[in-house]
Amino acid sequence: MKPIDTPQDAPKTYRVKSFGCQMNVYDGERMAELLDEQGIAPAAEGEDADLVVLNTCHIRERAAEKIYSDIGRLTKGKTQKKAPMIAVAGCVAQAEGEEIMKRAPSVSMVVGPQAYHRLPSMLERAVAGERATDTDMPPIAKFDALPKRRKSAPSAFLTVQEGCDKFCTYCVVPYTRGMEISRPYGDLVREARGLVEAGAKEITLLGQNVSAWSGEDEKGRPVGLAGLIRALDCVEGLARIRYTTSHPADMDDDLISAHGEVPKLMPYLHLPVQSGNDRVLKAMNRSHSADGYLRLLERFRNARPDLAISGDFIVGFPGETDAEFEDTLRIVEEVRYAQAYSFKYSPRPGTPAATMNGQVPLEVMDDRLQRLQSAIGRHQIAFNEASVGKTCEVLIERRGKLKGQWLGKTPWLQSAWFEGDYALGDLVKADLVEANPSSMRAMPLETVAA
Ligand code: SAH
Ligand code: SF4
Ligand code: F3S
Repeated sequence: MKPIDTPQDAPKTYRVKSFGCQMNVYDGERMAELLDEQGIAPAAEGEDADLVVLNTCHIRERAAEKIYSDIGRLTKGKTQKKAPMIAVAGCVAQAEGEEIMKRAPSVSMVVGPQAYHRLPSMLERAVAGERATDTDMPPIAKFDALPKRRKSAPSAFLTVQEGCDKFCTYCVVPYTRGMEISRPYGDLVREARGLVEAGAKEITLLGQNVSAWSGEDEKGRPVGLAGLIRALDCVEGLARIRYTTSHPADMDDDLISAHGEVPKLMPYLHLPVQSGNDRVLKAMNRSHSADGYLRLLERFRNARPDLAISGDFIVGFPGETDAEFEDTLRIVEEVRYAQAYSFKYSPRPGTPAATMNGQVPLEVMDDRLQRLQSAIGRHQIAFNEASVGKTCEVLIERRGKLKGQWLGKTPWLQSAWFEGDYALGDLVKADLVEANPSSMRAMPLETVAA
């Protein structure tokens, strides 16, 4: 490994490793496109890359600490034979950029989630031997500076809103992604069309708080997320629209109606609740009650009776008692989630909850997490079992392990698999014939046009 501060060879190949949420996946793809434009090629699988971008996540302690072990493995030759030039991007870069530069001398570049469009000029400096950090937060500049979309998987992500003003007391996102901004309507419709031309059949609209997206349509009329979804419904060749993640405080009537009216909008809603107890929700600064959340879901289910509901939970928030945790189990029984994500509370530096009294011991959190996950798992299996006998469309996203086997997603975001003479991106009408805990076996009937 050459010492930094002397010129380095210009990289010919790169690899981007993204951790964390779907927005990081989107950012990782955009960074790859920028590097492609610089004439740097993606490293083939199993081959060493000259430049490795670690696109990091800061949401929980384990995720954030991972980066130092990754850097260690890269420089000690455990991941690759030859040590690469290293760039650290993503939310850890934003939150701990200076510390990374101090702690990891082998890192050449630190670039925050709002600054990665300037990666090419940072790279030039790195090649000249200069270490560079850029964690500026210019709101829209990044998107304007990114190249056009060229290739896309059948299911693509599209960031429409970024940042968060909600300041839940446990969460780092408002600090790492900045204040809420909405990308302009026209840019989004254009990027969506570009994605479809590049091969996308499904687009998932992304935002830390996506239901807060707002803009003006081509006639200058104010529109919310539902208006954007209705515009994308008219994009020819696009078969499916999804959005994530929403906050219960920003769901309007139009979005609820859209679930009953827009054919391409899939019957799936990811709506995190975090806890089923009102005292805990208040301490989390969640601005909704458990009952308010349930009533909201009722309205969505009235608009779209077959809606699959998903959520996020945190167990062991400071001060959470056994009885308060029982309320979380109760909400799981009431909602009957098709899927849900649950986490042990992780104190994050700089957030109000990190210094609250009543930090819950790890064993208690472990026990609560296990009970919660077993309840969620029970409902997930029940949801899959209730889907047996349904006929639906499956969008093929990947090849299966066996020859002729294909993996795709049902409208309710279940993984489904079948065999036959098909191709990636095919939308196949199929009968769901068998339920497994985390997938469905399907019998293909015919390919349908997007
Ligand atoms: N903007 C989204 C998601 C943010 S992060 C939302 O508000 O729903 C994804 C999930 O990580 C959160 O929903 C929460 O369940 C979890 N999470 C966030 N901070 C956490 C922390 N400090 N400890 C444990 N889980 C956390
Ligand atoms: Fe974090 Fe809360 Fe914002 Fe979600 S709504 S990103 S949990 S602060
Ligand atoms: Fe992680 Fe940042 Fe996403 S902290 S969850 S990568 S917004």
